[in-house]
Amino acid sequence: MRILSIETSCDETAVSIVEATGTFPHANYKVLGNSLFSQIDIHREYGGVFPAVAKREHVKTLVPMLMRALKDAAMLLPHEEDSATPRTEELYTLLTREEGLADALIHFLLQYEKPDVDLIAVTHGPGLEPTLWVGINFAKALSYAWGIPVVPINHMEGHILASIFDGHTIPDLVFPAVSLLISGGHTELILIREWGEYARIGETRDDAVGEAFDKTARMLGLPYPGGPEISNLARDARKNQVESFVQLPRPMLESGDYDFSFSGLKTAVRYAVQDKTLSHNDKIGIAREFEEAVTAVLLRKTKNALMEYNAQTLIVGGGVSANTYIRETFKEFFWKEYPMVTVYLPPRNMSTDNSIMIALVGHAKKDMALSYDRLSEIKADGNLELGV
Ligand code: KG4
Ligand code: ZN
Repeated sequence: MRILSIETSCDETAVSIVEATGTFPHANYKVLGNSLFSQIDIHREYGGVFPAVAKREHVKTLVPMLMRALKDAAMLLPHEEDSATPRTEELYTLLTREEGLADALIHFLLQYEKPDVDLIAVTHGPGLEPTLWVGINFAKALSYAWGIPVVPINHMEGHILASIFDGHTIPDLVFPAVSLLISGGHTELILIREWGEYARIGETRDDAVGEAFDKTARMLGLPYPGGPEISNLARDARKNQVESFVQLPRPMLESGDYDFSFSGLKTAVRYAVQDKTLSHNDKIGIAREFEEAVTAVLLRKTKNALMEYNAQTLIVGGGVSANTYIRETFKEFFWKEYPMVTVYLPPRNMSTDNSIMIALVGHAKKDMALSYDRLSEIKADGNLELGV
């Protein structure tokens, strides 16, 4: 089957077409088309993601991304002469809140044939609700125009699959597995007993890891997104053996549970840097200390969870799993201390938001797809949870 997937939960507008042969998880996947537009350059000017700005960009970019994905897949086929005009009234109703999108979509539908796609998968949470709605309404409009069912997808489940997908297949996992999900909005430890059976065993009580990276970066005068910036400075500090002038806490390291808290860490950085003119070495030293504090807590809690639940599979996912120091530390630690644990880390292009991961979950959940008459049941849920 062919799946068209749409991701708009934050600041990446992404559309893919993935062909799945076989049944989940033992299928073969072929990514036929994949397009992604990152809004980072736009948000950098504002120092962060404003939902209204992000929404406007998704509205502008969705049709071009759809066309690019279809073109990659050799599925962007101009109409034969006598094609029917789409019933536009319903499309305008579905997209009333996405100004300009109905016009762009109708223009596209007038030019191109319905592609050979069986299912539309769209992220419906968690994320920014105004931007989630853009993707959802677009999926509904395509569903209406083409008569294809839609399956709503949890973005975090996408990150789990992104971390284990090798480009063609999903490996046979030894369950139970533990997943550490670290992104701009989330920091969670999830116990996976079986495919689709999730239990959240720990989460952040305040800031997400990515958020802490971004806020700390801002205090050091670095641009958004701060994760990669901090990571570069920290690497310099390690290379040049520069230590931090201040020791930061390792919050909740010994709390005995699987919860996290990163806002204290950010506050400690604020106290350390306020009223101080920072030298280059001060900055890179603090970046290093911050990265090491975060990594120590993530590693300890993850290790404890694997031990308690007798799990031999670890899946690290989410945007922050692009961080080199976190990746290297996790790999080395488990390789040396717990060689029976298999550690899955996403390739870098699959660690940040993308739509391939949404297509993979779409395949797993294809039986939950809704046909056009039931699409009103699909709603954006900014706080959608994975496991309770
Ligand atoms: O998963 P993601 O792309 O979007 C969300 O769903 O939130 O994650 C984005 C987050 C941002 O906070 C960004 O600073 C962080 O991931 N990030 C990193 C790195 N690359 C991205 N954090 C630390 N080190 C990195 N190399
Ligand atoms: Zn994400």
